[in-house]
Amino acid sequence: MTQSTILAIETSCDETSAAVVVDGREVLSNVISSQVPVHQKYGGVVPEIASRKHVELINSVVAEALELAGKTFADLSAVAVTYGPGLVGALLVGLSTAKAMAYTLNIPLVGVNHMEGHIYANFLAHPELEFPLVCLVVSGGHSDLVYMAGHGQYEILGRTRDDAAGEAFDKIARALGLGYPGGPLVSKVAEEGDDQAILLPRAYLEPDSLDFSFSGLKSAVLNYLNRAEQKGEEVNKADLAASFQRAVTDVLVDKTMQAARLKKVKTILLAGGVAANRQLRESLAARAADHNLQVFYPPPILCTDNGAMIGAAAYFKFIKGIRAGLTLNAVPTLKLGIEEY
Ligand code: KG4
Ligand code: ZN
Repeated sequence: MTQSTILAIETSCDETSAAVVVDGREVLSNVISSQVPVHQKYGGVVPEIASRKHVELINSVVAEALELAGKTFADLSAVAVTYGPGLVGALLVGLSTAKAMAYTLNIPLVGVNHMEGHIYANFLAHPELEFPLVCLVVSGGHSDLVYMAGHGQYEILGRTRDDAAGEAFDKIARALGLGYPGGPLVSKVAEEGDDQAILLPRAYLEPDSLDFSFSGLKSAVLNYLNRAEQKGEEVNKADLAASFQRAVTDVLVDKTMQAARLKKVKTILLAGGVAANRQLRESLAARAADHNLQVFYPPPILCTDNGAMIGAAAYFKFIKGIRAGLTLNAVPTLKLGIEEY
């Protein structure tokens, strides 16, 4: 079989990224232009600014991805693009670019779900992965427990009923005056703290539920800060960050283990921006090892948004003959496993 060289574009939020991936495994380039410094002064992503920045950056990011890969447009087998979930204006920039390329080069267009991309970052890092498996996908917008019996087969076992795990990190970081994005900043401060210092709630919901809820935890942290302020007491930020991180991690690890038991799998994956969290990785790996289960996660650069993960997911669709038309549109609330083209 001839090799497939896919150029993959990701613009769903605040990273403008393009990558060249061969056969869904070999990353020839993965250019990520982060807009974090632009949004930092607003304390979060401003959608309108994100779209404008993507427009400014996308052509040079694509050109750089091709150049670093040592490829030209003529070498491409297909172009892949994230079409949801995400910010509609941001998604449309990547989509327009990908569609223009597919049309002018007369090559197939493959639409990819952003969350599917996060999961497939694991296949780039660990080509030996085998099904069935359970994946915890934790990002700024999602906290999903997903069962996969094979490529492209997704059964959602649980999801968040309110805030996503990454969103909770971001909101707590803002409340602690740490800045954006919150996850890495909270976990850095937490390193100096005692994670047993402040008792915070853990929401397990109904006994069999694999859903998550982080809004109660978030409110508890905000209330703790407000009370301290009213009493004029100094808050130990490191202890609060560590206790918060421990509460999030405990629930994520417990429910992931519960899902693995329910589905009787031997393999657990972590995916999404929050999968870069060291405590989560270490706690889950330790618990899984006690039960002879294996845990895999991508390196941090492939956990947060990037084009290579989209190229990896696209490959498995491409070889199945899945193609999008040039009418492919942005679907901001796209669900995993439900193709909208
Ligand atoms: O997957 P991602 O890059 O974008 C979305 O699809 O949302 O995830 C971003 C989220 C942010 O909420 C960020 O605070 C969180 O991932 N994050 C982390 C860490 N690194 C990124 N959360 C906890 N610990 C980290 N080290
Ligand atoms: Zn993401």
